[in-house]
Order: sequence, then structure tokens, then C-alpha cells
Amino acid sequence: MKVLVVGSGGREHALASQLLQSDTVEKVFCTPGNGGTARLKNCENVSLLVDDFEGILKLIKEKAIDLVVVGPELPLSLGITDYLQEYQINVFGPNKAGATIEASKSWAKDLMIAGGIPTAKSETFTDKESARNYILQEGVPIVVKADGLAAGKGVIVAMTQEEALEGIEELFAQNFGKVVIEEFLTGQEVSVLALTDGKIIRSLIPAQDHKQIGEGDTGANTGGMGAYAPTPLVNDELSDRITKEILEPTLKELQKRGIDYRGVLYAGLMITPEGDPKTLEFNCRFGDPETQAVLPMLKTPLAEVLLACAQQRLADLPPLEWHEGSAVCVVMVAGGYPSSYEKGKVITGIDQVQTEGVTVFHAGTKLLNQEIITDGGRVLGVTCRDADFQSAIKSAYEAVAKIKFEDMYYRRDIGHRIMNKL
Ligand code: AMP
Ligand code: GLY
Repeated sequence: MKVLVVGSGGREHALASQLLQSDTVEKVFCTPGNGGTARLKNCENVSLLVDDFEGILKLIKEKAIDLVVVGPELPLSLGITDYLQEYQINVFGPNKAGATIEASKSWAKDLMIAGGIPTAKSETFTDKESARNYILQEGVPIVVKADGLAAGKGVIVAMTQEEALEGIEELFAQNFGKVVIEEFLTGQEVSVLALTDGKIIRSLIPAQDHKQIGEGDTGANTGGMGAYAPTPLVNDELSDRITKEILEPTLKELQKRGIDYRGVLYAGLMITPEGDPKTLEFNCRFGDPETQAVLPMLKTPLAEVLLACAQQRLADLPPLEWHEGSAVCVVMVAGGYPSSYEKGKVITGIDQVQTEGVTVFHAGTKLLNQEIITDGGRVLGVTCRDADFQSAIKSAYEAVAKIKFEDMYYRRDIGHRIMNKL
């Protein structure tokens, strides 16, 4: 099989490298890929933008590609799947209608309400005045969310009335049109990524991300500073509840709306202090950096599973098999991220740490004159898989300590929420 991975992040490097471990995969192409995929054996970067559908179609035909795996939400929400399916191409990733589950928070909320899917109480507003009044009436803390795709910057968790009102001003000034205001939930956040072919849904092992830049979960929200899987915060019983109360009813609601959803349904969940799962958000794609922790744990050949989703025959496959133990991914970022940061710093030490169990997934990097240089905010994700969480985290941080670039930063407390519970 020849597979095309669309995207350029750490998630796409993890996808490409896991796909290449399937015996049936002969070659992987990445559009546009990054410094890591450029150096991966049997992988080739092709410099096309993720929304250049015509260019991508031409490449698929030229190289006789059998399966397209779409990483980011942008091309999905622009309809890359609809476009390629017109040419009978196997695509893993939902169509435009399905991607609305991530692209519109209000649409996702309506779907959750219709399906009786547990989530925070909320209201959607199209005018500023009513939104302001609602905040004054409900009080704080409260959560204000932009309705459209906002690259992780559309959610304001407001602890004070001023923050909430400012959030409203900001989002309406940015012309989001609609704003969702939601009840503030407390508890433990987990990410459950599930694969679906539009007919059945199977969840992957549960992961926990670390969204904030600072240790102890403080400071600005980022794309994700590290993840580990599986998380013991979701035991088998809770996992069954998540499938029955959230994943399956969501798929059923999508089906009711006539949506043929083939790809990842990512449920961002809050496990409340009472132990109940509530949905914070849905994404229509693999999480980043959750993927860099979850996929290295998968024993079943990934290519077969993704192709089965694209061809609507997931039910024919045996249950997914997983390695014993745990995987941890620590993200290394450029100083200043998630605000402004510099690019073009030389990275050293990567090759020295790639030993048994350790993989360095590249995100914002590029290959220049045989050197790997920084090319984005999130630069690398260092993943270690080991017999247990404690050993995995220890080895991941030992590897991180050997990698260097100017002004680098990483959180030293990935996994802190479970560290003392194991
Ligand atoms: P979202 O993009 O909707 O997942 O929101 C981004 C982040 O904001 C989440 O990962 C949570 O940390 C936080 N968040 C979102 N909704 C809520 C909520 N209802 N209560 C508390 N925190 C929330
Ligand atoms: N790690 C969060 C996300 O992928 O949206």
C-alpha cells in the first residue's frame, strides 16, 4: 500500500511512522511533512499545502496512492474528503458535514443535546447584549467559546466577571458571529480518541493531555505540552460508560443527520469529581500530542485499521491489540510559545536518544543542509514506551535532557496528576 498523510505536525510524524510499521505499507508520502518525516525511511515529503486539493489529487494519481489519512481539522472542514471521494479515493477523515462537529461548537452542542450526551449546560448567542446579560445572570466562573475554528485560541475560561465580559468583547470583535457560553466544570480532563467507519465505533486507549504552558497546569493554553496513555483515570468500567453514553450516541446522532463519518471522533472529556464523564468538546481528527503517546502503544497494524474505516468494514476486523505498559510524550517548544517565538535554531542530540523505546517525533522542524532546525512553536515530542508509567516518564525526561536548542522550554511535570496515585 502507498499512503498519503496530509499535515506537518508531530501527529503526522507519528502517523507516518506507525503506518510504516504495517507490513502492507510500502511507502508513505507527507504533504507537506516536516524535518522528521523527511528523514523517515520509505517516507517522502511533497511540498503541497494542506488545502491544495487539486495538487493533492494530482499527487495521488501520479503515485497511485491507496489511502489518504488527513491529520489537521482545516482541510477536513474545507471538504478534502468530499472532494477526494468523488474520485473513489479511500480517505480516512470525516467529510465536511462531519467535521462540523469540531468547526462549530454550537452545532456540536445541539447534537449533544439531541442525543442526550452528557455535557456542560450552555447557551448560544448571536448578539453581544444577550451574551453579557447571560454572564451577569449566571455568574462566574464561566466558559466563553467562539463558535468557529480558532486554532486553540477560542476558549476563555473566565474566573472573574471582567474576564468573561472581555472575552465576549474580543470574540464578537473578531466576527465569530456566534458565541457559546458554558457552565464551568471541574474534574480531570481526558482525551478519548475513537475510530469509526460511520457504522461502528471503537475507542483507542484513553490519554491525558497537558494544555497549559506552565507547570502545575498554569498560564496560557497551548496546543498541548505533553501526553501519556493509557490514563488510569479511565478504568474499564468508565471506558464502557464513555462508549455507551458518549461515543455510540454521538455516532447515532451523526447517522440520523445523514452524515457518513469515517475517521477519528475525539472526545475531550471532563471526569467530574463524582466520576461521571461529560463532554467538553469533540474534534474530528487525531489529537496532538495524544497521538504521539497513543499510537506507539498500538500493536495492530494501523494501516489496515484506517483503510477498513475508509472502506466501511471496521466490523470485520478483530479487536485492537495494545502493548503492555505506558507511553509518555514530552513536548519541547520554542521559548515564547504560545505567544511569539523565533525559528531557525539548530537542534542537536536527536540521533543520540533514539534508542529502544524512545522516539523523537518532530513537529515544527525542517531539514536544512543536513541539519534539523526549529520551524514552529511546538518543536519536538519525545515519546518513550516502557513497562510502566514511572519507567516511561523517567526515560522520556532522560532523553529530553540530551536534546538542545537555543531558548527551548518544556514542562517537567507531565503526568503529575497521576504521578502520586500509582
Ligand atoms: P475546548 O477547546 O472546548 O476543549 O476548550 C479548551 C480548554 O478549555 C479545555 O481543554 C478545558 O481545559 C477548558 N474548558 C473548556 N470547556 C470547559 C468547561 N465547560 N469547564 C471547564 N473548563 C473548560
Ligand atoms: N491536544 C489537543 C488537541 O489535539 O486538540
